[in-house]
Amino acid sequence: MEKAITLIVNGQSRTVTTDPDRSLLDVLREDLQLTGAKYGCGEGQCRACTVLLNGKAVAACLTSISDAEKQNVLTIEGLSSGSTLHPVQQAFVEEGAFQCGYCTAGMIMGVVGVLKQNSNPAEKDLLTAMNKHICRCCSYPRILKAARRALATAKT
Ligand code: FES
Ligand code: FES
Repeated sequence: MEKAITLIVNGQSRTVTTDPDRSLLDVLREDLQLTGAKYGCGEGQCRACTVLLNGKAVAACLTSISDAEKQNVLTIEGLSSGSTLHPVQQAFVEEGAFQCGYCTAGMIMGVVGVLKQNSNPAEKDLLTAMNKHICRCCSYPRILKAARRALATAKT
């Protein structure tokens, strides 16, 4: 049975009437037209769908919309301040850390998630978090370079 569910997406209250078992990813993409988070595997294995739920990186494909009720969701669309990119986005641009770009939003949100949990993370924390993400174009060296650049910027 459908239910009205309100969540805070990128700082704005949004209400959707839907099956409470649908995934957060599905609702973001299909109902709210926020298509930055991508559907890759649908099984929590690729992290192309990563968003932040109350500041923590989660796989939106495995998160039900009812789990996000009344919670704060941050997607890639809410990251920049107007035309000013978030430092993690800027680092990815400066390092050219993408090819097709399918994994990029998830990668960026993963790094932002690391920084939200700890503004001075250790290298192993970064690697543990990024290890969950798959890039089919194998841009890993540049992605890691961008992530390290973003962390270095955050520490200055
Ligand atoms: S689509 Fe969510 S982890 Fe792959
Ligand atoms: S840049 Fe193509 S999947 Fe990562």
